[in-house]
Amino acid sequence: MKSAEIREAFLRFFEEKGHTRVASSSLIPANDPTLLFTNAGMNQFKDCFLGLEKRAYTRATSSQKCVRAGGKHNDLENVGYTARHHTFFEMLGNFSFGDYFKQDAIHYAWEFLTSKQWLNLPQEKLWVTVYESDDEAYNIWVKEIGVPAERMIRIGDNGGAPYASDNFWAMGDTGPCGPCTEIFFDHGEHIWGGPPGSPDEDGDRYIEIWNNVFMQFNRTADGVMHPLPAPSVDTGMGLERISAVLQHVNSNYEIDLFQHLLSAVAAAVGCENNDSPSLNVIADHIRSCSFLIADGVVPSNDGRGYVLRRIIRRACRHGNKLGASDSFFYKIVAALVEQMGDAFPELKQQQAQIERILKTEEEQFAKTLEQGLRILEQDLAHLDGSVIPGSLVFKLYDTFGFPMDLTADIARERELSVDEEGFEREMQAQRERARSASSFALDYNTLIKIDGETEFLGYQEHQSAAKVLMIIKDGASVESALEGDNAVIVLDRTPFYAESGGQVGDCGYLTAENLCIEITDTSKNGHAFLHHGCVTQGTVQVGDSISAQVDAKVRHATALNHSATHILHAALRDILGEHVQQKGSLVDSQRLRFDFSHFEALTAQQIKALEARVNQEIRNNTAVCTEVTDIETAKAKGAMALFGEKYGDQVRVLSMADGFSVELCGGIHAERTGDIGVFKITSEGGVAAGVRRIEAVTGEAAWNWLSGAEEQLKQAMSLVKGTRENVLDKLQAVLDQQRSLEKEIEQLKAKAARAAGSDLASAAVEVNGVKVLAARLDGVDGKDLLVLIDQLKNKLGSAVILLGGVQDERIVLVAGVTKDLTGQFKAGDLMKQAAAVVGGKGGGRPDMAQGSGVELAKLDDALAMTAEYVASKS
Ligand code: SER
Repeated sequence: MKSAEIREAFLRFFEEKGHTRVASSSLIPANDPTLLFTNAGMNQFKDCFLGLEKRAYTRATSSQKCVRAGGKHNDLENVGYTARHHTFFEMLGNFSFGDYFKQDAIHYAWEFLTSKQWLNLPQEKLWVTVYESDDEAYNIWVKEIGVPAERMIRIGDNGGAPYASDNFWAMGDTGPCGPCTEIFFDHGEHIWGGPPGSPDEDGDRYIEIWNNVFMQFNRTADGVMHPLPAPSVDTGMGLERISAVLQHVNSNYEIDLFQHLLSAVAAAVGCENNDSPSLNVIADHIRSCSFLIADGVVPSNDGRGYVLRRIIRRACRHGNKLGASDSFFYKIVAALVEQMGDAFPELKQQQAQIERILKTEEEQFAKTLEQGLRILEQDLAHLDGSVIPGSLVFKLYDTFGFPMDLTADIARERELSVDEEGFEREMQAQRERARSASSFALDYNTLIKIDGETEFLGYQEHQSAAKVLMIIKDGASVESALEGDNAVIVLDRTPFYAESGGQVGDCGYLTAENLCIEITDTSKNGHAFLHHGCVTQGTVQVGDSISAQVDAKVRHATALNHSATHILHAALRDILGEHVQQKGSLVDSQRLRFDFSHFEALTAQQIKALEARVNQEIRNNTAVCTEVTDIETAKAKGAMALFGEKYGDQVRVLSMADGFSVELCGGIHAERTGDIGVFKITSEGGVAAGVRRIEAVTGEAAWNWLSGAEEQLKQAMSLVKGTRENVLDKLQAVLDQQRSLEKEIEQLKAKAARAAGSDLASAAVEVNGVKVLAARLDGVDGKDLLVLIDQLKNKLGSAVILLGGVQDERIVLVAGVTKDLTGQFKAGDLMKQAAAVVGGKGGGRPDMAQGSGVELAKLDDALAMTAEYVASKS
């Protein structure tokens, strides 16, 4: 069976068992600060397990793209060296949210794996593990399914730490977790390895193919296990592993999905398609890197971008090992797109962008490799003994991305070795630093649990009556808040928009008789809207009826900026190309900020064209249309969905400018494009490799910006006493005049220097019969000193001359030797010595040389060098 057929069979099997097929979510987890990358099929359902989110279904099935290369589940170091580890893989899963539990989950898994109609695997090749104390699961396997006890293994806690077991699965340090049962496939005696729990379990003979987790707890940072609202199921089967089983191969790298890719790697690197693990490493890494970039990650020095950078560099290093002499990694993207582009259209759409980012990153790494080598050479020159210290190996690794084994190779060539243990110590220290500084280590559960649900009325209303459901003060739920208190208020219904999709939360007032709460921000937790504010008058109590009033002016300005952002997005794709993808946005009442993928700075013409296009759509004044529909219909209409956003079954589609812009969006918008008034870009710049940022203003803010610009123009006009028509000519005239004055000053200075030069000749002294002249002339530039040297040579007939002076906080030096003496004295040599005295550099021909320096106090010492130099050479 081909991998694509297995994927389809799995989803179909579970659909037949009443599961809803759900699309893979982005590799960037939506609204989940605890997670670096999507690392399991259950991630997108986390809130369903926790009871924070209700969906239209209680059974789901998916094929989820996953990356495990950082954070809790990190397989990076193993990749390429085992038959089964990947940085990127697809996870097939079935999920129950408080619906079925252990018994059905186990029966479903067994039926899919062993029944003739489905995968038809030989039962005697399957082994099963359960959590040590999970008698219930053990009995289902043995008594109901009939797995013989000798192929059943109970796995306990490692080293006695509670729940630290291969059979107790947790998504991260906090969040949903529970005991699990794992199904293993025995690839046969010819492969090394032992059954799970045995000393040889790390071998490739017994491979875990399917993990069934019985989600029962929510672990908080204090280690306490809180029962979930209802026992649930989360399963995961690696598509690559099950494909290996069904395609009768022992390594994932031999399955259909990898074969084509491996040939492409060999071709790009220019080596034979051999057994080197480096080929596997590269074939694996091109998948994670391409999918991460397609989902919006760009290489950088921290967070997700840093993990991506490390994976790219690891791939490049392995390419080097295989003898690649040029950039090769980006060349493999095409083969990946051919292989997986149908199942994952985002790869196809973004192929050019992925290739460009990978190529740039690879070229940059080639440069840092060179720099690293230079540093290594310098440090080796002062090395005591024959061991390169771990701290240097680490510095090269950390600063220059210089892999340890490359340092070790160079060490070997010089009969040196590297201190691997020292390097590991530094690495460990860095990991700890990274862990403690990680912004991904937030405790999901520090958010207070909020049961209430808020009905959102803000698309139609600015004001509504509402009831106070909950009051939170200092992180705790309270019955009332008093005048002066900062509090968070949860209402049963609200017109306040809660921050999301780049649009900030609304501000405004909650009022009742003798009560006023000023709301400065609104956010969302599950289905509850949190109104953050301060009680400015009276007391508010749970159960109070209040009036909720959004600040309409602020909301209106925000809405205009939001609609302009959509039109700008469409205009960018129209003018720059389809590779433009939204990478982030921020919309408030003052301005809009839009980050997007594009490789170079925008030209002035492009910026003008964008402004013209957006303003044209504003003047067309077409209606902004909103429609709520299902995701497939929305996509069919060409709606742009944003990576990293979580969409429900029903989505809101915003169409503007007669379909010029169609986006999924839950935000607040103008009624007609004409409401935006005017659109003006205020800045354009880069935020990361391949990501640009535009800031712009609309409506009243744009008007203010433009009249401010006019005010500045008026001031410029008054400075040059010009009019709007001639102000540029006048400014040009001022600049021309300045240039001609500068020229005049230069000529005068040269004249003065020449005059001084004639006097200097008399200052020459004799050293061993040679005329030597060393003189200080501050404020004269190098060019004039050169003229002077020529005059002095003529005047003195035969001499060695050094002139120097301070000009613009730097020392300028010029040396000259008359032709008759250049056999014995070289101006270049004299200059080198003199410049070194003032901490600078210099050189030149035997008869004429120039130099400079920075140690102003040593200029006289440098000039004194002239006599010493002549004495030493004669
Ligand atoms: N979440 C579990 C795992 O990743 C089962 O899908 O193994």
